[in-house]
Amino acid sequence: MNVSVIGTGYVGLVTSVCLAERGHRVVCVDVDQAKVEQINRGLPPIYERGLEELLRRNIGVRLEATTDIHNAIGQTELSLIAVGTPFDGRRIDLTYIKSAAEQIGTALRTKAGYHLVAVKSTVVPGTTDHVVLPLLETMSGKKAGVDFGVGMNPEFLTEGEAVEDFMHPDRIVIGGIDKVSQDLQAALYEDFPDVQIIRTNNKTAEMIKYASNALLATLISFSNELGNLCAALGGVDIVDVMTGVHSSRYFTMRLPNGDCYTPLITSFLGAGCGFGGSCLPKDVKALVAHGGQIDVPMHLLNAVLQINERQTVRVLDLVKKHFPSLHRVQVAILGLAFRPDTNDMRESPAIPIIQSLLQEGASIRAYDPVANPEAENIFSGTEIRFCGSLREAVEGAQAVVLITRWEEFKQLPDLLADATPQPVVVDGRRMLDKHAFARYEGIGLS
Ligand code: UDX
Repeated sequence: MNVSVIGTGYVGLVTSVCLAERGHRVVCVDVDQAKVEQINRGLPPIYERGLEELLRRNIGVRLEATTDIHNAIGQTELSLIAVGTPFDGRRIDLTYIKSAAEQIGTALRTKAGYHLVAVKSTVVPGTTDHVVLPLLETMSGKKAGVDFGVGMNPEFLTEGEAVEDFMHPDRIVIGGIDKVSQDLQAALYEDFPDVQIIRTNNKTAEMIKYASNALLATLISFSNELGNLCAALGGVDIVDVMTGVHSSRYFTMRLPNGDCYTPLITSFLGAGCGFGGSCLPKDVKALVAHGGQIDVPMHLLNAVLQINERQTVRVLDLVKKHFPSLHRVQVAILGLAFRPDTNDMRESPAIPIIQSLLQEGASIRAYDPVANPEAENIFSGTEIRFCGSLREAVEGAQAVVLITRWEEFKQLPDLLADATPQPVVVDGRRMLDKHAFARYEGIGLS
């Protein structure tokens, strides 16, 4: 198919590149000229595992980037809207969605033939039907369901694993105002065999995305609340508690051959420094705000957010346990992005943790295998030393604070074996062996 993707951020670019890889002809559109030029040179503006290779293979073949949305709509039969939908402090900010819908509508005015517009961005239930559709009709002077179709096709991409997730999806949700709108989206995914396609109306598709993210956020805050209780109780480690919980047949399946299979959901049932990234925090906030607006207070999800915000303070408290003052204390921050394999720093727990440490006068060195440049932008003007290696970051550190679950950080016991004096290791992810260090602190442990 001929597809246009509006917005080439994390979601839009991965979608464009992967659809091209699957054989579609894709034009991706962005307002940012520099980004467009970079993509056309085969260089992804973001880091995602496997993305560069696929981009290089498809750019100039089945994929091109442009700032000309009018032309892109004219030469394609289906458009996916993948612009950002940030939280503006009070509610979801639909500025970019509206702008994209207006521009697509304007282009449809002069385009001959049927066109399908599907929203891929995460939007609160009702947005596609009550915001996007009317704008398309007004700007095009055409009728939805007759001249063009309207759909909602949420993404379920985990940052860092987005290419793999797109190429091998666990589900494809297709919302639409009618069967044609759904059929055209289904055709887009014809070459993704063995995947369950769920057809719904647009509002349900929008809600499936929020429900999925809200559940994961809830499991994380549930684990953190229990972890904080374990720490206060003393003599109970949340890791041991969760091992017991995971062993339930609800979470661990015993296969006929005797092997055990532990589903990935258990990775959300563990205490740590909290959830971050461009999706979970903003989506839960948007849902809470949306519920409030229609007089449905979201008590549980509100608590999920509050617990999450306090988790970074707990990491700091663990550092402070060992230093009466943090003034000039050498602190190594390991990991800057909210999860491994991405350089997305949005809402990373590293940001408030580093800010507080700086305020208290600590000397910070930081290392992330891929996110150093993004963090340097955020913390420009501060005296953080960004290090090129794990070894450099921890050398001479008095405290080591682990924030991101990079596999590489498992080398820490070996790297610190001969350090004198031994630094305090604060494990914000509970991924290290607590017995492997002379001075270890972890979330959910007293
Ligand atoms: C996406 C989704 O859109 C969001 O709803 C979902 O919850 C998470 O992922 P993301 O890809 O992270 O957002 O957004 P971002 O990285 O901010 O990229 C958006 C892109 O759209 C930017 O490159 C921006 O320049 C572009 N844009 C924005 C347009 O091309 N046109 C606009 O009108 C606005």
